[in-house]
Amino acid sequence: VTQYLADWRPYPFEIAETRLEFDLAPKGTRVRSQIDFRRKGPGDLVLDGAGLRTQSLAIDGKPLDLSLISKDDERLVVPASALPDSFTFAAEVEIDPEMNTALEGLYLSGGMFCTQCEAEGFRHITWYPDRPDVMAPFRVTIRSDKPVLLSNGNPVSRGQGEAVWHDPWPKPAYLFALVAGDLVAIPDSFTTMSGRKVELNVWVRPGDQDRAGYAMESLIRSMKWDEETYGREYDLDVFNLVAVDDFNMGAMENKGLNIFNSKLVLASAETATDGDYERIEGVIGHEYFHNWTGNRITCRDWFQLCLKEGLTVFRDQQFTSDMRSAAVKRIHDVQTLRARQFREDAGPLAHPPRPDNYQEINNFYTATVYEKGAEVIGMLKRLVGEDGYRKALDLYFIRHDGQACTIEDWIKVFEDATGRDLTQFKRWYTDAGTPRLTLSEDWQDGRLTLHFRQETAPTPGQPQKPPRVIPIALGLIGPNGDEVLPTTVLEMTEASQSFTFDGLGARPVVSLLRGFSAPVTVAREITADEQALLLAHDTDPYARWQAGHDLALDALIFRATSGTGGAEFGQAIGGLLTDAAADPAFAALCLSLPGEEEIATTIAARGGVPDPDAIRTAREALAQDIATAHEAELARLYDAMETPGPYRPDAEGAGRRSLRLACLGLLTRIDGAARAQVLFNSASNMTERQGALECLIAAGKDTEALAAFAQEFGSNRLVMDKWFMVQPLRATPDQAVARARDLAERADFDWKNPNRFRALISGLCANHAAFHAADGSGYAFTVDWLMRLDPVNPQTTARMCSAFETWTRYDADRQAHAKAALGRLAAMKGLSRNTSEMVTRILAGG
Ligand code: ARG
Ligand code: ZN
Repeated sequence: VTQYLADWRPYPFEIAETRLEFDLAPKGTRVRSQIDFRRKGPGDLVLDGAGLRTQSLAIDGKPLDLSLISKDDERLVVPASALPDSFTFAAEVEIDPEMNTALEGLYLSGGMFCTQCEAEGFRHITWYPDRPDVMAPFRVTIRSDKPVLLSNGNPVSRGQGEAVWHDPWPKPAYLFALVAGDLVAIPDSFTTMSGRKVELNVWVRPGDQDRAGYAMESLIRSMKWDEETYGREYDLDVFNLVAVDDFNMGAMENKGLNIFNSKLVLASAETATDGDYERIEGVIGHEYFHNWTGNRITCRDWFQLCLKEGLTVFRDQQFTSDMRSAAVKRIHDVQTLRARQFREDAGPLAHPPRPDNYQEINNFYTATVYEKGAEVIGMLKRLVGEDGYRKALDLYFIRHDGQACTIEDWIKVFEDATGRDLTQFKRWYTDAGTPRLTLSEDWQDGRLTLHFRQETAPTPGQPQKPPRVIPIALGLIGPNGDEVLPTTVLEMTEASQSFTFDGLGARPVVSLLRGFSAPVTVAREITADEQALLLAHDTDPYARWQAGHDLALDALIFRATSGTGGAEFGQAIGGLLTDAAADPAFAALCLSLPGEEEIATTIAARGGVPDPDAIRTAREALAQDIATAHEAELARLYDAMETPGPYRPDAEGAGRRSLRLACLGLLTRIDGAARAQVLFNSASNMTERQGALECLIAAGKDTEALAAFAQEFGSNRLVMDKWFMVQPLRATPDQAVARARDLAERADFDWKNPNRFRALISGLCANHAAFHAADGSGYAFTVDWLMRLDPVNPQTTARMCSAFETWTRYDADRQAHAKAALGRLAAMKGLSRNTSEMVTRILAGG
């Protein structure tokens, strides 16, 4: 059944308090609930439930008939006529955490009880108004023989076999959490800006303590940053964070009890890469920042998900740019947005940041809601300025604290704080699709006229696309490389619009969309020489990187479609290598060629049919050319970028290692993998270890290294996930599927663990030429495994269907293979609602 935004109605009751008692047992956990309701408006009492073995129901102590439960077991309706204005609803149910392989509600992970309730997991725990606009303080009693018993809020008592927790801040059920297990804490504390001392704990399994320190440091940095940047203070006596091995997503912001996928907590130099460290810091920040943007102010309904997610991603991006390099972070974020969100926006799964209908909300935790949601806020900030943004956010926190809000509330805050009319801006929230911005130029007598056009192609359910407000940040670079116009923001509001710049000496080159000021694609006429000029001289790091990237992309597309090209890019790279050591992270970004997926996307966007094999060949050949042309310089840099001394996961070291590995990737093509072999054997950190291993796999010289790696890390699940991932990802396309098949046969391919499943299957899906193998073997293998996982874990299965969202851009034979594979999945008996919605939408694109 489809849910519609337009159908939202206020809940007719409010809750004064929710009391829960858990008697934990793997197969039969008893949950007793007491909910104090007060009537607010007319209507029946409707409660949600799923898979509950209901023992008893009562209102004010009087038993209720179990026949009030609907036949499908999902709703409990008590007619208004049977209800006083205030009453206590009580229920006792039994649930089975051990059988809960979907990892939604209360489940077991490695013997530990834990929960995941967002979006609609609480209904798997007990009968409740499981919707985000019903908020209540919670009192929770946990009885269990596990040594550590945690829930939200502050501890009331922690005795033998029983703990009581009280969360005074009203919250929706999706923020409820419970953990019970044999855990150890890394303890610390934080004193807030008003002087309150907060107890902090990062809880891990015994033996993992020495890998939890970075998580704690990240948490403390997050708390400090949110005080300094947004004036937001923490509001409970304790903050607990728990790492679990079986988790469908990254992490969850449950009030006072954040639960994390262990891969986003545990790190040591030997086991985690620089990228892992950066993600850990960023996600710990993200979940912590939700305390204000998500928990204190939550969403009225799930259509408003981007209200909390877009804003919290925006905040975690700001945090990472402040902790590390702002330029590098921006470029990374743009790369992710393009790779995931533009792709989504261009295909059958396109939807606006605020959708107006869905079948399964878990399918809408997407790049559009998260990453585009964050970009929209970035545009808003650019339009109203730093001051306007700060005023609006202050007003948001004051006006809406304790409420469940909408995108309309959010926009109104900006209008009231800045006096700006944001009616047109709102389209960014309600309209799907990536606008295409076209620039053409006129040059006459020192006057440059820029003619812009914007167009957005139709998306499913939205044929018309009225023009949006597009903030276009640009600068002008003179022919000698001087900046003749510093960054200026043009506000485009019409379908086509021109802007003039007078009094210019010689014709400058436009440095367009500085800082990636709007999530649009750009079409413009620009010569390779002009791109090289920007790459050499642009003052905006994003625009500078983009110029080099476009140069490479054009060369690659030319090669993939007609065979030769790329000389200009090779030359420009030469210039860049000379002073690469001055900014290694930036140089590394410029040296990494656009990926095969991005090349395919660009060819498709230009109206062509991408050929995965030709794309791969073109990219390999260009890399080979660059390596040959610049061997000496690359080798010198490779040596110079060694990071001596103990490993430190900071931005500087990470930048040096990223440049070193970029050089290694190129050099491996011409040195017989000699350097990769040496580095694999000698590196003491996982960043270089994994980098070297990937090179060895690509070069087909991996047998010994893989064995050594498995020997050394066989008992470390997170490190072995890397081992399972890099093989299908880096193997040559002719071998990758066969390899994935072999790996799937291994006893340690514990496919019910989402991290392990994703490592292998998504590893293959990310190998463009292998997943899109002409014989359809990549598609078939992937679907075989999705069919196996769906009955066990629908959420993770459904998310992974997006590997197929681009299927219609390829040739007829590949399309036929993809369609057949998807058809098998769609026809599977008992297919989950999650996966069924995804497959139906994806197939509808054909
Ligand atoms: N709110 C969490 C975050 O942004 C994501 C949890 C989503 N979980 C889910 N099953 N849909 O970090
Ligand atoms: Zn979030």
